[in-house]
Amino acid sequence: MVNSMTEAVGVGMLGLGVVGSGVARALRDKAATIGQRVGRPVELRGVLVRDPERQRDVEGVSLTRDPRAVLDDPRVQIVVEVMGGEEPAHAYIRRAISAGKHIVTANKEVMAKHGPEIVSDAARCGLDVAYEASVGGGIPVIGPFKLDLLANDISSLSAIINGTTNYIITRMSQAGLDFGSALREAQDAGYAEADPRNDIEGIDAAYKLSILATLAFHARVHPNDVYREGIGGLEPSDFRYARELGYATPLLAIGKREPEGLELRVHPAFVPRGSMLANVDGVFTAVQVEGDLIGRILFYGRGAGAGPTSSAVVADVIDLAQRIGAGPVRPSLAPTDANIRLRAVSDVRTRYYLRLVSADRPGVIATVAGILGERSISLSSVLQKEDVPLEEGGRYAEIVFMTHHAQEAAVQEALEQIRRLEVVPRIGSLIRVED
Ligand SMILES: NC(=O)c1ccc[n+]([C@@H]2O[C@H](COP(=O)([O-])OP(=O)(O)OC[C@H]3O[C@@H](n4cnc5c(N)ncnc54)[C@H](OP(=O)(O)O)[C@@H]3O)[C@@H](O)[C@H]2O)c1
Repeated sequence: MVNSMTEAVGVGMLGLGVVGSGVARALRDKAATIGQRVGRPVELRGVLVRDPERQRDVEGVSLTRDPRAVLDDPRVQIVVEVMGGEEPAHAYIRRAISAGKHIVTANKEVMAKHGPEIVSDAARCGLDVAYEASVGGGIPVIGPFKLDLLANDISSLSAIINGTTNYIITRMSQAGLDFGSALREAQDAGYAEADPRNDIEGIDAAYKLSILATLAFHARVHPNDVYREGIGGLEPSDFRYARELGYATPLLAIGKREPEGLELRVHPAFVPRGSMLANVDGVFTAVQVEGDLIGRILFYGRGAGAGPTSSAVVADVIDLAQRIGAGPVRPSLAPTDANIRLRAVSDVRTRYYLRLVSADRPGVIATVAGILGERSISLSSVLQKEDVPLEEGGRYAEIVFMTHHAQEAAVQEALEQIRRLEVVPRIGSLIRVED
């Protein structure tokens, strides 16, 4: 226990990778500023790593491979978890709480899957769990939901929340690269991992949406509740047509409160060129929120990297350290509403862009329009490009259908029937339009 207002606040850290090194450097280089903001020094007492013998680029840090040396250290009041992954990070956080430590974490997977339970267990012990860095890196989004936006009923969240996929999409859109080349470029630039599945399949975005939606809609949202499609199916021609039709094509994380229930989905989407979200390029990320009192607001910035992420982690450390000195910590936790229902993706109503690769024969458009019309899916426009060379060889026509609002289930049914047409060798893409 810290028993004096002059004694240092002790921090123990789990992980010294990209984020952990940034945090260790900030705690060292900004010690005077941090100490002044807290009212007493904040000291990094020990760091858990896998390999303490390895050469590190931060010096003067006490390393251990024994989790007990950090989790059970009585000189540690705040445990910073920046090791990543679900286990053992989750187990270590639980153990730190049992040992009476406050938690700061950047771990979206743990917070998306277990966050509300961890926060309420900690609250029962008079401890707090801070996780600003888990979504949007240094962009302040968790804090505003926990405090500044509390008076609002939030109707929607739309976020470009994964910098890696946004970089890939920006390169496909602006340089005309295909998906594989844009991914390799992102890997060479250090923006994508060697195993990029978490990013390109939308898993990371679904974790972040779960965390944000839990806060925004005061509902317990689990990543399994989020409908998810990745960016691997996008082709350069989708970006060309999007431009022609006046849209950008980000990977969008969407949370919407509709009378029928909460819609939660992550997928590529068309957004109008003039909208704020259409102008978020490269590794930048943005979260757009609509509230009844505040209207529309946008949080925008670099969502990852040692600097931005340590900004959020260290701010959480400072906030907790300030509150430790000021009597019992009052955990920030708004109750969730167990009655909120989820809306199945098959019930979603939106507009659609459908690109078909078709034989260059008369009557294809009429046949497809007929199949859509039978399911009350009406068309707002049709584009046809003839004599398109295909990667797999041969030349075909490419037809793009833009629909009016239609129900997802009806569109999927129509797609099944179109897939069986001999004159349509391939369905290019189906992209939802978010006007
Ligand atoms: N990178 C970003 O820009 C960013 C942004 C926002 C949030 N985050 C989140 O921050 C967390 C950390 O990310 P990162 O990029 O810093 O990861 P990282 O570079 O891979 O570093 C992970 C660190 O944790 C240690 N570690 C991992 N598993 C361990 C285990 N089982 N036992 C002991 N130590 C272990 C590693 O030890 P060794 O050094 O010995 O290998 C390493 O120091 C993740 O949850 C990530 O999602 C990252």
